[in-house]
Amino acid sequence: MKKERLESLERQCREESAEPIVFGEGDGDAKLVLVGEAPGAKEIELGRPFVGQAGKNLDEFLEILGLKREDIYITNVVKIRPYKINEKTGRKSNRTPNKNEIEKYGKYMEEEIRTIQPKVVVTLGNVSLRAVLKDQKATIGKMHGKPIAYEGYYIFPLYHPASVIYNQELKKTYIEDLHKLKDFIKEHYLL
Ligand code: URA
Repeated sequence: MKKERLESLERQCREESAEPIVFGEGDGDAKLVLVGEAPGAKEIELGRPFVGQAGKNLDEFLEILGLKREDIYITNVVKIRPYKINEKTGRKSNRTPNKNEIEKYGKYMEEEIRTIQPKVVVTLGNVSLRAVLKDQKATIGKMHGKPIAYEGYYIFPLYHPASVIYNQELKKTYIEDLHKLKDFIKEHYLL
């Protein structure tokens, strides 16, 4: 039932999009949904979310929580790769998704959550937090590591792992937050 609904959403999204998309994947009955920002080059190449460098970040996330990739549902707010072209080299590089992209594809992310009805939605970074919470003023710097009761589930905001790579202090906070999430899930019997 949920699986069919998710498949139909994916078809609809593919039809609506002129560019290749990466849709969410995983357990349609998952208690935990992870929402990233947008796929990068590797994700588009393989047609799957969180592979490549982002996949390594995901492995660390799963290891700390004691979960497997198949236990959760993984998606992004935006389903295409937002990129810009470097004028000198002609190469593509990632950019933050714009308002139109967030609105267009965010509808699908909302429907994925509505379909799955998880207990906890983990957001990664500002774009994801703002889109899931529907609050443009939300900021990850103030809200990370603290659960928010929202529409029948909890939102648990984390920094985006890609943003903490070159910042040891933030990396430490990110890992502490992951342990807080683990304790929260345990205390509330969420999984
Ligand atoms: N890859 C994804 O699929 N999502 C992100 O947010 C980052 C990398």
